[in-house]
Amino acid sequence: MAEEIRERWTSRTTFLFAAIGSAIGLGNLWRFPYLAYDNGGGAFLVAWIIGLLILGIPWLLMEIGMGRMFQKGAPGVFSGIGKKWEWLGWWPVLVAFLIVSYYAVIIAWSMRFVLSSATMAWGTGQEAATKTGGFFFENILQISSSAGELGSIVWPTLIMLAIVWIVLFLIMYKGAGVIGKIAVYTVSIPWLILVALLIRGLTLPGAADGLNYYLSPDWSALLTGDIWFAAFSQIAFTLSVGMAGMYAYGSFIARRGDVNNNVLIAGFANNATSFFAGFAVFSTLGFLMTALSAPAGEVAESGLGLAFVIYPAAISMMPTANALTGILFFLCLFFLGLDSAFFLAHGGVSAPLRDKFGGGLAKVTAIVCVTGFLVGAIFTTQGGLYWLDMFDRAAAFYGLLITGAISCIVIGWFWDPALLRNHVNETSDVKIGAWWDWIIKIVLPVGLIFVLVYGGFMQDIPKAYGGYEIGILNGSHVVWIILLVTLVASFVLQKIKTRG
Ligand code: PFF
Repeated sequence: MAEEIRERWTSRTTFLFAAIGSAIGLGNLWRFPYLAYDNGGGAFLVAWIIGLLILGIPWLLMEIGMGRMFQKGAPGVFSGIGKKWEWLGWWPVLVAFLIVSYYAVIIAWSMRFVLSSATMAWGTGQEAATKTGGFFFENILQISSSAGELGSIVWPTLIMLAIVWIVLFLIMYKGAGVIGKIAVYTVSIPWLILVALLIRGLTLPGAADGLNYYLSPDWSALLTGDIWFAAFSQIAFTLSVGMAGMYAYGSFIARRGDVNNNVLIAGFANNATSFFAGFAVFSTLGFLMTALSAPAGEVAESGLGLAFVIYPAAISMMPTANALTGILFFLCLFFLGLDSAFFLAHGGVSAPLRDKFGGGLAKVTAIVCVTGFLVGAIFTTQGGLYWLDMFDRAAAFYGLLITGAISCIVIGWFWDPALLRNHVNETSDVKIGAWWDWIIKIVLPVGLIFVLVYGGFMQDIPKAYGGYEIGILNGSHVVWIILLVTLVASFVLQKIKTRG
């Protein structure tokens, strides 16, 4: 009975696009290119492909495969393994909820930049190009001086956030059938825009220098821990695993649908998108270096700094089509973010809630959207950026790595990964071998624990994260508190009894 009423993808293509769309996101455009530049250029690609093969694809296969096998989102999968493990499914659900609540705010900022681009509000020419930081921090964010000072709500951002959540609601309230169809567009449009941005970048002077910085290999980097940390953490982040959603996305596949092939295609399509985006970003950065006679170290950035400070500066310096380039670039961010956001909100949060508590699709979707909007309002305050940064560290770094590592250990050692392997092999063209069981049992947990310790605990225990101070608490304290609260809440969710 439950099976008949489960949401379904309408075709293999829509599932594939939905999976690709959840994986490609802001990180492909603003995180990957910088990591490659900063970690040995071409040599980074080697570590990153190894990471994809030994960590990323096996992990994605585990989540999508388990979802299809149990026909449930993450909590249902883990309670299917053993009632006592249900919390391990809820923890990433809460992590996904936190992530989407601030991810939607970043999408809202991107939309504000689409509007600002239309009038080139931050100005053109060299003078404007050196002041884009001021435009972002003062005009858009109206930033306060410290995390302890939330200040007031920035209304234009809050209004944009409401619009983003309304769009998300409209995409999600009918379930996987519509989501898959929309995903075809939210994936193809940014691909097309990236092609346009690449052409734009390559036709500007200095592009070749930028590409040299992006890819010239420093093979000695492969001997450092840093490159492996960067590659493995990016792989964990870029495939959108560890955020509960992939279990639900797998559960919407019909019983006979292929798993292995789709997982391989989605994994490679995601990485190819990053690799391609790197050309668009670095050709433009090369132009900016030339135009401002600035060294690479001054213009190469990642994250918010790249998207909202450096790229706008490059746009200011462009001889023609400034507004158009700006609109395209920020629309690209919008679309990249959007399908990751509905993946987190629907697969990560609503589907698991409905599995356990029931409730109509539209109603549960509305509850998730309203709650996400209300929590996200914190990040639209003047001090919101500082909190966004701490929530990001807690959720998108620690949360996904810790829950991912424990999930592999539980599936690998307290259950039998061969059961899953047989299940997916039955309906897939490409078969996976017994080696895969050992990846889940040993390679993945060890890889994830390495990333956690090397880039996480070894940094944030001796030194407070981000240098924040909020009363008697520092940034690391806030991160630990968020993790603890979500962990306790997942046990509470496990304890709640439901009828049926
Ligand atoms: N994998 C996507 C990206 O690379 O941007 C989406 C995503 C990653 C969403 C990490 C949220 C997140 F924390």
